This record gives sequence, C-alpha cells and structure tokens, in this order.
Amino acid sequence: MSEIKVLIVDDEQGQRDLLAGYLSGKGFMVTAAANGEEALAAYERVFAPVALLDMKMPGMDGIELLGRLKELNPYLQAIVLTAFGSVETAVAAIKAGACDYLTKPIEDLDELLLKLRRAAEQNRLVVSNQLLRERLEDVFPTTEIVGESPAIKEVLKLVGLVAPRDTTVLITGPSGTGKELVARAIHSLSDRSAKPLVTVNCAAFPETLLESELFGHEKGAFTGADQARQGRFELADGGTLLLDEVGEMPLSMQVKLLRAIEEKTVQRLGSTTPVTLDLRILAATNRDLEQMVKEGSFRQDLYYRLNIMRIDLPALSERKADILLLAQTFIDRFNHKTGRQLTGLEPGAARLLTSYDWPGNVRELENVIERAAILTSGDSITTETLGGLDFGDESTPAPELMPMSEVEKRHIKFCLDQMDWNLAATAEVLGIHRNTLRSKIKDYGLSED
Ligand SMILES: Nc1ncnc2c1ncn2[C@@H]1O[C@H](COP(=O)(O)OP(=O)(O)OP(=O)(O)O)[C@@H](O)[C@H]1O
Ligand SMILES: [Mg+2]
Repeated sequence: MSEIKVLIVDDEQGQRDLLAGYLSGKGFMVTAAANGEEALAAYERVFAPVALLDMKMPGMDGIELLGRLKELNPYLQAIVLTAFGSVETAVAAIKAGACDYLTKPIEDLDELLLKLRRAAEQNRLVVSNQLLRERLEDVFPTTEIVGESPAIKEVLKLVGLVAPRDTTVLITGPSGTGKELVARAIHSLSDRSAKPLVTVNCAAFPETLLESELFGHEKGAFTGADQARQGRFELADGGTLLLDEVGEMPLSMQVKLLRAIEEKTVQRLGSTTPVTLDLRILAATNRDLEQMVKEGSFRQDLYYRLNIMRIDLPALSERKADILLLAQTFIDRFNHKTGRQLTGLEPGAARLLTSYDWPGNVRELENVIERAAILTSGDSITTETLGGLDFGDESTPAPELMPMSEVEKRHIKFCLDQMDWNLAATAEVLGIHRNTLRSKIKDYGLSED
C-alpha cells in the first residue's frame, strides 16, 4: 500500500509529536503544523487528502482552518479532535465539512487508524467520481450556466420554471450572451432530456435548402435530391427543436414554419403524407423581433406563437459581477483540457477584465481567457497576456478637490455598484481582503440603495 499523506495540526507539541511518530510508523506520510497559519502554508505544498485537526487552538481555530483548507482542496477529508464531552464542537465541525471526529485524549489508536484509512478511501472515491463526471462533460457539452449576478439569477429562475413544462420559449439577447447554452439547459432539465435536442441555424441556409433542412424531402423532390431525407423536425421527434437565429428566417418560410408548429405535423418536400410529431420548440435570436414585426420583416402571428415565454439574456456589461467568476470557470476548463495548472488572474488582469465593456459578451471573454492562458507561462494570467482589449478613448472626468477618504469612499461605492454588491468580486477588483472591504463599508456607512 502506498503511503497516505496526512496533515496533523495541533498546538500541543507533545501530542503532535506522538501522533506524527505513531502514524509515520504505520505507513503515513505526515506533515505536522502547530497552528492554522503554519498548516495553510504547509498544505499548499503537500496537498494531503486527509487531515487531523485540533479544534481548540489559539489564533485561528479548527473550524476556520477547516474552511480555509477546504477552499484549497474541496475534497479534503478532515477528522477533527475535540475535547472529551464537547459534542457541540464536533457537531459544528461536521456541519463545517469535517468527515469525522475523535475525542481527546486519543486512547484507541486502532480507531484512529481505521478512521484515517476510511477518510483516505473516501477521498479517493470522491476524486474519482469527480474525474468521471468531468470526463463525461467533455463528451456531453456542459449546460452549467455560471453567474451570481441578480440578472443571471433571474435567468436561472426562469429556466427552472419553464424547463419542465412544454412551453415554447423565445430566448433573446445580444450575440455571445449564452442563448444556445440556455436552450441546452432548458432541454436537459425537461422530461425530454433523454431525447435529442436538435438545432437548426436558420441563418445558415438559403431559402430553398432551409425548407428541406426543416421538413426533409422525398427522393426526387428536386434536382439533386437523389435520396430521401428526414428534416430537423422529424429528427427532433420526442425531443426539442431549437430554431436558432430565427430572426433570419425568410418571410415565405415563416408561414410554413408557423403551420408546422401549430399543426404539429410536417410534410416532406415531394410528399403528400403529413407526419405527426411530438416536439417542443425553442427559438433564439439576437434581433429585435418586435421591431421586425413593425417593419414587416417578421410575421406577427409567428412572433406571438414563439414569444409565449421569453428569456432575455443581458449583455455581459450589465452583469459585471459575473466576469471574474466566468473567467475562473474558463481557466478551470482550460486546465482541464490541457493539464496545466493556472491558478487564476493577477490582480491587474482581474481589474482589466472587469473594466472592459465586452461587446462580444461571454463568448469574447471565453476567447480572451483561452488566448491569455495559452500565452501565460507562469501560474496566473497576467495583464500583458490580455493584450488587444479595445478600450476606445476614455474621457476621464475632471478631478475635484477632496480628501483621500472621500475618494476612497466614492470609489468603493462605485465598484460595489458595478459588481451588484457581490463582496467577493468587489474585493478582488479592489485588490483588498473581503474583511477589509466589509469594515470599510461599515466605516463609510455605505449601503445598496
Ligand atoms: N453564463 C454562462 N456560463 C458559462 N458559459 C457561458 C455562459 N454564457 C455563455 N457561455 C459560453 O459562451 C459561449 C457563447 O454562448 P452561446 O453560444 O450560448 O451564445 P449565443 O447567445 O447563442 O451567441 P450567438 O448569438 O452568437 O449565437 C459558449 O461557449 C457558452 O458556453
Ligand atoms: Mg447562438
């Protein structure tokens, strides 16, 4: 059996040495620390799957340490040591994510060994499950909609609401905001998820081909149709059909589409037999369909038929609080694909990303991160590798005479508002600790109005 790495944290030296000595003799690779700070510093080097933490320590206590360690390694299995009789502490520790506890003084060393080995096995299981899940995600594209801004939370709420019903949903928003992702999420949360989600890009075909693409054709239906072919409607039978870029559909096709949706039947080109189908329709567009209806380039009846439920994705510049979260998600995915281990963004890089306007929205952010990740040779993405973001010409407002504290107050308020009062994201942009931000908010009496 290979050695199991274990981190032991205890402020009493005698106890620490005793445990370390005993466990080393039993095939464990021990790292010992006398307090929270020391433990965190050591942990970044050893990354042990298992830890044994004393709960009562001067300075950072066991619960806080546990939280910090879990941030470094969410799969860490920690066994906590509590004083005899302090059930409360044990319960709190388990709630905070510990997997087990032992009471001090440890008398039964076999029990200790058993619990440590079980914890190591548990860690192995969770990690391999996670790997398995991630490998599956490589095969099946992810439908996880990342974001914590109020705007994206509203979108998620709507997705959850409409998904289980069979309602037609119109998904709108500027290019690259995640419309297709939302469509996939709706499908995968619906009863139809075992059946296919079929997408047809209405902008990708000239009019004549679009019709056969949607409805299929019989052999000999037109010149070149030397084989019969099923259309997208038929392929989506039982599942979901996404009409992507529906605003690009030619008017003449719009009538046929409306009929197919309303009658739930299609007729292949060159056939006289209608095929009855069971499918759900989703439509996506970055065009303003209402305006198109007014101009006469989109049929009003089709618009009403599609716009039964509407999910509107805001531009990324309207949900700045999500930028860093999305960036980190893309960095993690990059690490995955490439086996690199980038940790994140340098503070300067984070500030740059959040002040940029993102005309290409999430897709642009994804591309920028991927490019920077490739260019970065260190562990985190630097400002230099983010070159090419076009800030246009910024006009800076004329400075006013005011005390430093006022500048700071206004700046913090500005950043908080930009970040929808997401403290973690704001602290990161400001380059200060979250607790520092909290106390400044209190000192300046700032509030979300
Ligand atoms: N909230 C999000 N969380 C994670 N990834 C996202 C999010 N929004 C968008 N993406 C990613 O950004 C990229 C663009 O998204 P998607 O293709 O869904 O946009 P779209 O609105 O359909 O764009 P277009 O109008 O150009 O067709 C995809 O790779 C998608 O996975
Ligand atoms: Mg799209």
